[in-house]
Formats: sequence, C-alpha cells, structure tokens
Amino acid sequence: MTQSNLNVVILAAGKGTRMRSNLPKVLHPVAHKPMVAHVIETAQSLGASKTQLIYGHGGEQLQQRLAAYALQWVEQAEQLGTGHAVQQSIPYIEDSDQVLILYGDVPLTRKETLEQLLLAKGDSALALLTVTLPDPTGYGRIERNSEGRVTGIVEHKDASTEQHKIREVNTGIMAADGKALKRWLQALDNNNVQGEYYLTDVVAMAAAEGVDIKTAQPETIAEVEGANNRLQLAALERAYQHRQAEQLMLNGATLMDPNRIDIRGQVDIGNDVVIDVNVVFEGNVRLGEGVVIEPNCILRDCVIGNGARIKANSVIEQAILGDNAQVGPFARLRPGTELKNGAAVGNFVEIKASVLGEGAKAGHLSYIGDAVVGAGANIGAGTITCNYDGANKHQTVIGEGAFIGSNSSLVAPVTIGNRATTGAGSVITTAIADDSLAVGRAKQRNIEGWKRPVKNKGL
Ligand code: UD1
Ligand code: CA
Repeated sequence: MTQSNLNVVILAAGKGTRMRSNLPKVLHPVAHKPMVAHVIETAQSLGASKTQLIYGHGGEQLQQRLAAYALQWVEQAEQLGTGHAVQQSIPYIEDSDQVLILYGDVPLTRKETLEQLLLAKGDSALALLTVTLPDPTGYGRIERNSEGRVTGIVEHKDASTEQHKIREVNTGIMAADGKALKRWLQALDNNNVQGEYYLTDVVAMAAAEGVDIKTAQPETIAEVEGANNRLQLAALERAYQHRQAEQLMLNGATLMDPNRIDIRGQVDIGNDVVIDVNVVFEGNVRLGEGVVIEPNCILRDCVIGNGARIKANSVIEQAILGDNAQVGPFARLRPGTELKNGAAVGNFVEIKASVLGEGAKAGHLSYIGDAVVGAGANIGAGTITCNYDGANKHQTVIGEGAFIGSNSSLVAPVTIGNRATTGAGSVITTAIADDSLAVGRAKQRNIEGWKRPVKNKGL
C-alpha cells in the first residue's frame, strides 16, 4: 500500500533514564539495529511520503546514527507530554495528510498491523490501535459507550477505580486526518494529575465532534510493547528472534531449537535447510537448498551453495561457498574467501581473500591468505601461505591438482605448477614447474651411538 499523503510522526524525545546509559534510549538495538531504525523502516515500507522524528535528548548521536534515513528532524526541547511532542510536528502536517503516530521505543509493530489500522480508519478522522491486556496497570484505558463507540482515553493515573477495571488499553499508536489532528492538538491543556499535555485527550475531542473513532488490534502484544529498561529490551529481542525463527520454519527450514537461533539481519533460504542450535546470522545470508549448519556457527554476509555443510564451531564472514562445499569443524573463513563446488576446509583452517577451486581440500591446521588454489589441489596439514613480508601482502598461486606436503611454508609471491608436489616441511620461495617435486628443507643427518645428556647431580 503506497500512501502518497502518509505522514508518519515518530516520538523519540524521551530520555530513557531507566536504561542507565549514555546512548539515547531509541538507539538501543534489537537484532543489532537501533529500535528507532526498525520503526523508521516500517514507516517507509508503508510508503510514507514524510517521516518526522521528534527528538529531544541525544540529538547529535541520533542524527549521526540515523544519517542514512530520509527524515524530517523535529526538536522537542522540553518533554511536556506526548501531546506536546506531536504539537511540534504541526508545521510539517498538511490538512490532507493521513498522520500515523508511532514510537521510537516500540520497534516490533508489523507493517501489516499498521495497514489494518489505516484500513480500519477509512474515511473516519481518527483510528486507534488498542490491545486487551490481562493486567492493564499503567496504561491509558479505552472508554466506550453503550453502543461500543470509543468516547475517550483515561490515563491510569487519572482513572477511577471503576475505570481501572477496563482491560482494553491504548497502545499510543494512532492514525488521524491532518486537518482535524492539528485542530485538536492546538486545543490540548495540561489539567491532569501529571501536568502533561496528553496526546490521548484528542480522542474525547474527536468523540465530542461526533467522529466515529475506529480501532484495530495487533496480532501479538509484543508488537506494541516498548522498552524502558534493559530487561524489557531483552524481552523485545527474544520476541523479535522468535518471530524470525517462525518465519524461517514457515519458509521451510528445520530448526533443531527455535529458541536457540539469532538473526541480526536477513536470511534467505532454499528448501530443506537444517540449522542446529546456537547459530548466529548477521547481515545478509543466503543458504541454498539442503544446507546443513551444525551447532555454534556464526555466518555474516555470505552465500552458501546447495548441499553445503557447515560443521560445528565455524565462523564465516563475507564468503561465497559453492554447492556441496564443506567447512569445519572449527574453521574460519574471512572476507574474500570463495570455495568452489565441492571444496572442503577442515579443522583449524583460516582462509582470507582466497579462492579454492572445485574439489580442492585443506583439511587441517592451515593459514591460506591471498591465494588462488586450483581445482582438486590438496593442501597438507599445517601449510601456511606466508603472504605478508612485514610491509606488503603477496599472492600465492597453487595449480590444479597440486599436492602440498604437510607443514609447507609457501613464501609469497610464489607460484606452484599444476600437479606439482612439495615435500613435507618445505619452505618454498621460488616457482615450481608443472608436474615436478620441490623439496626445500634441511637434509637429515643420522648420528650413530648418540649418548643422551644425563641430569647433573648436586646443583
Ligand atoms: C502513553 C499513553 C497511554 C498509553 C501508553 C502506551 C499518553 C498521555 N498516554 O503513556 O495512554 O497506554 O503510552 O505505552 O499519551 N515522549 C516524547 N515526548 C514527551 C513525552 C513522551 O517524545 O514529551 C515519548 C516517550 O519517549 C515515549 C512515548 O512518547 O517513547 C510515550 O511516552 P510516555 O511518557 O512513556 O507515555 P505513557 O505514560 O507510557
Ligand atoms: Ca510509556
């Protein structure tokens, strides 16, 4: 739904004292992204033509962190209440706008829920997102008349014992016609227990004008929950992760435990992916069909081919893996790693900015950096590409079908021919031709009848 006149106002001026933090509350992250960025992205996904951010504390930090977003920055220098906050946006509201009010510390509201709210509003001048809670303590209560029409909102602190029994509460999220909203905002006062300008007072004003106030409800309570302290922030993180896990399973992934997966970004999957426990995804990750990820892996910004297997305790960052590639256990693929189809990397192998050709193998205890390894090459245990001379990085080229003996040091820049072999323990400093053997190690001496030293007495 694209709304050419949708004007979203995000309240984010609160200090967030209970976070006990130097970071403004709305910059605290859910899934590695500031709470307010989730809200901004949801607003923009609705097709908002304008997104206003009402800020107070930490303006500089906010502007820095949110520089990538197209925002109308609106300062609320003093926080005199939610109504006062929205009053600051009046100069940026056209009469014909549909105004949607959101909160920078309520990050999990779904786009679909807000679409429902706008749909429910229709031609009415006002619609509220409400929710019914088992324990409504602290929230503004929705008052309805005998016909069920909304007549007002009473804040918990201003409510009577009778009103405290109402369990339908105000989430704070509302949609209103620009012209009417501006009129109502200008008429607000602060005659209440908290001495604040309540945004919620516009509801009684609308009802008094005969507006048929519409309501909509979210699918889950988490969608309208905010975070005032780090306990609530952690609860939002779990709710978010639960939703991500559900989505992955609905898309065809098997999760060994949906409570032990973390997605801090976007994961796209083919069919029949299996993800074991304690796997963390960051950035953009694409998993091909039938990929298996064993426990305790971290995958950040990578593409994993069909049928590949990532064994336990592996860390993969900015890498591309071909079909049926195998990694780990305990492997680390750093940025710029590319494993072609069927390549295999085993325990304690670190790879950086290198390509392993089709079916190439590095099974154990290696460092491969700035290298191009041909198809079918075998890199023996303990092989190191010595890519750094203390000042510059150099390339190692290993030909197709080469066999690198265990514990070889390949001093770059160096080229090893196709089907060439290096003897175990060699230090290779010059090029090796195709099909030849290079042995670069001290010759073995055998000394017969060698007497071992004996331990000194006395001292
Ligand atoms: C508000 C609603 C209440 C609703 C509840 C839902 C009012 C008067 N009450 O109460 O009906 O049930 O939210 O959580 O609106 N803010 C500003 N500037 C201000 C004041 C607040 O930006 O001057 C921001 C805060 O940072 C916060 C949000 O608005 O993110 C809500 O403000 P808060 O004071 O927490 O409202 P509640 O008392 O919780
Ligand atoms: Ca609140």
